[in-house]
Amino acid sequence: MAKTELMPELGSIEPNQHGYRSFSLGKFSFSRDEYFAHIKWPNGSHIMPADGFLRAIQRDVAWAFFYGIVNFDAVVGTVNHYGSVDLFAGRFNEQYRKAGLDYLENFKTPLIQRVFEALLEDWTNSTFDPFAAPQESGTAFGPKNGSNKRAITRHRVTAKRMIGAPADEPVRTDDNGFPVNRQFADVPQDKPDVKPERGFEDEVVAFNLFAYLSRSDVTWNPSVVSVCKASLYCPTTEENILPIIHGNDRVEWFVQLSDEIHWQVEDRETGSIRARVIMKPGDVAAMPADIRHQGYAPKRSMLLVWENASPELPQLYASGKLPPAPVKF
Ligand code: PHB
Ligand code: FE
Repeated sequence: MAKTELMPELGSIEPNQHGYRSFSLGKFSFSRDEYFAHIKWPNGSHIMPADGFLRAIQRDVAWAFFYGIVNFDAVVGTVNHYGSVDLFAGRFNEQYRKAGLDYLENFKTPLIQRVFEALLEDWTNSTFDPFAAPQESGTAFGPKNGSNKRAITRHRVTAKRMIGAPADEPVRTDDNGFPVNRQFADVPQDKPDVKPERGFEDEVVAFNLFAYLSRSDVTWNPSVVSVCKASLYCPTTEENILPIIHGNDRVEWFVQLSDEIHWQVEDRETGSIRARVIMKPGDVAAMPADIRHQGYAPKRSMLLVWENASPELPQLYASGKLPPAPVKF
């Protein structure tokens, strides 16, 4: 097999001069050097910083392509069709569209998942943790230098009923590897006092959500901590910049639990700016179904993302049967 030949679904066997393998998916190709990811498609190409690219693809992989659109930046990203995934360039960028430079291919989810996982593993050096805050990770840059499989294959917390319920996701403690984060040293660690009637010990459960979040070792990674039918509470701890620009396919509610996040809200199709939203503790926002957004957290903060996971929602919004905003003032 020639050196540059690509193994179907995987990537080049031989690394390039920087030590990294190259990958292809349909007519897209991906390669990296010491500083950048290079993405090519039949009528264009793009360059992204390696750290930002890895932080974005880490989330796309860990969240199984999330709800709707995951823009890695203003050019490249994915659309989740829940079974298949579009990989696109320029699709949600007005200038690329006008110039006819946008490009899109659809892949069955397991295929794109496998390629992205292989790429993430090969391109993440031992020093870099794509889920960690920049101040808590070493460098993503330089020639290939080991790997960090433990960081990129972290367990995704998805409670069946609630954190701490019997046979469900455990609470976080020093002993199970989740010390209090440096920026949440002031968060009380007390436990709720629960006194269920005899026979209801499995049904009446409580945990300290602030203490739980203070022990998160990742940023911009919502965990499902409670489930009531399709209603998912997905709180998360945020520091620095959300590594993706999320294009909604449904309404999302945000409750700012601590500190401050600045949201840049853009039109989902064109990327034109619609609003800046500065959320302080106690603020609640309903992010409309036709926007995309990216958050900026000057200091590690706690955010509750409230998702409605009903599978019929994307179609109801896309067809106009539901209005894009849940409240009118
Ligand atoms: C979002 O796109 O709504 C989102 C994603 C990750 C977060 C917070 C919000 O950590
Ligand atoms: Fe979102």
